[in-house]
Amino acid sequence: MDLALDGKGFLYEQIARALKVAILEGRLTAGSRLPSTRLLSRTLQVSRKSVLEAYDLLCAEQLAVALVGSGTRVADFNSRLISPTRAARVKPPSKFVTRMRNLPPIALAGYVRPEAQFKYDLVYGEPIIRPALLNSWRRKMSAASLRAGPFYPTAGGYLPLRRAISDHLARRHVVICDPANVLIVGGTQQALSLVARVLLDEGDIAVVEDPCYQMAMQCLSSHGAQLVRVSTDAQGLEVRKLPSRATKLVHVTPSHQFPGGSVMSLARKMELLHWARKTGAWIFEDNYDAEFHSGGRPDPALCTLDLAEQTIYAGSFSKTLFPSLRLGYIVCPVGLRNDLFKAKLLDDLGSPTIEQAALATFIHSRQYERHLRKSIDELTRRRRALHVSFKQLLGSEVDIGPCRRGMHAIVWLKNLSYEQLDLLVKQAASAGLGIYPVHPYFEARPSRPGLLIGYAGISAGQIGTAAEILARCIKKVRK
Ligand SMILES: Cc1ncc(COP(=O)(O)O)c(C=O)c1O
Repeated sequence: MDLALDGKGFLYEQIARALKVAILEGRLTAGSRLPSTRLLSRTLQVSRKSVLEAYDLLCAEQLAVALVGSGTRVADFNSRLISPTRAARVKPPSKFVTRMRNLPPIALAGYVRPEAQFKYDLVYGEPIIRPALLNSWRRKMSAASLRAGPFYPTAGGYLPLRRAISDHLARRHVVICDPANVLIVGGTQQALSLVARVLLDEGDIAVVEDPCYQMAMQCLSSHGAQLVRVSTDAQGLEVRKLPSRATKLVHVTPSHQFPGGSVMSLARKMELLHWARKTGAWIFEDNYDAEFHSGGRPDPALCTLDLAEQTIYAGSFSKTLFPSLRLGYIVCPVGLRNDLFKAKLLDDLGSPTIEQAALATFIHSRQYERHLRKSIDELTRRRRALHVSFKQLLGSEVDIGPCRRGMHAIVWLKNLSYEQLDLLVKQAASAGLGIYPVHPYFEARPSRPGLLIGYAGISAGQIGTAAEILARCIKKVRK
């Protein structure tokens, strides 16, 4: 008998698995005798104990029966009902799956990240990690686990957290909202997914910015939206280019266009709201890194200017704390509040309470604000290091896009072709530097290549070294 072990887990599990496949595929038929444990252990060159344990496991799963004096036999359990062929990839069982399978590879930051770890990685999407934060978080979690209890969560979210978020938004963002309208979700991704489920029918038009956060685009496409990309300029979304056809939803990043870096001007915000009012479209305001504004008050959020309540404001703790937390929130417009709450309930019965309770204390005790201030200072240092070192070492080779807030910037490569860009990425990788092209975020390739530089996961000193390596690699590529 041909038994191939798959090398996963304990030996006895591998043997039992291989025999199970032979039984389910019909190679071992009902009533047939399994090889003696001595023979099988010799054939597979494993201990007899492993084979004995494997047979015990098969008997426990009722696939075999051990009979005193006549060894172990395959049980009679209608195995003929199971097709002997291995599962092939099934045809799309639904329209949702068809749409999902047609999406380009799903990658958080626009590219599929290589397995290799780079010594200097300019990847976007890393949080800014401070060890003190993680220690404090551990303590908050253990206290929260006692407080939160083992029960099902409240689907809309843990009330003290919704209150803490509402206070925080009023204090820092002048967003005034009733905690009853704050819905806790599993990050912006779930926020958008719930909004799409609530608002979109197949074929509805949804607008995304160009360039755009790919996870948003893919989420909306998977829900059947017909996507229209609208370009952005130094003032944000070019509202005059919005479609004249009925549009259901517009996804925007007004506080810091992703990844272009512009901040939507007040005039544009008013124009967008006016357009939404006229057309009845909903606006998804993705405030993914609005916390990282330095000094004074932030620019007014769209939702604070929207008297018609057509704006769905979404915030996330992925950038300010860490993305593994998977917590964010929606400030629901009154007209959609109950629908969004119900969609969340049906989706997962609510986000984990212990994490929510820990976060509530973190915000309530103002530790969150202190952490934000420290993160903002650190990001400001890194941004300065980026400007100084890139200008000094790469001067005429690069143009740095808007870079006054957040944790990323676009660096345009003025003198390289796209072919040279591919070479540059490889050269940099072999020198231990991770760099990532920005053109996948655009509908059409920009006329010159560029890089999306994330600087949250790399220190100010390392940014200088990264610039040195990049300068060396550019020189090599241009030879
Ligand atoms: C534009 C944009 N929105 C939202 C997010 C955060 O998503 P989530 O809260 O699901 O982690 C990111 C993260 O990279 C982002 O770039």
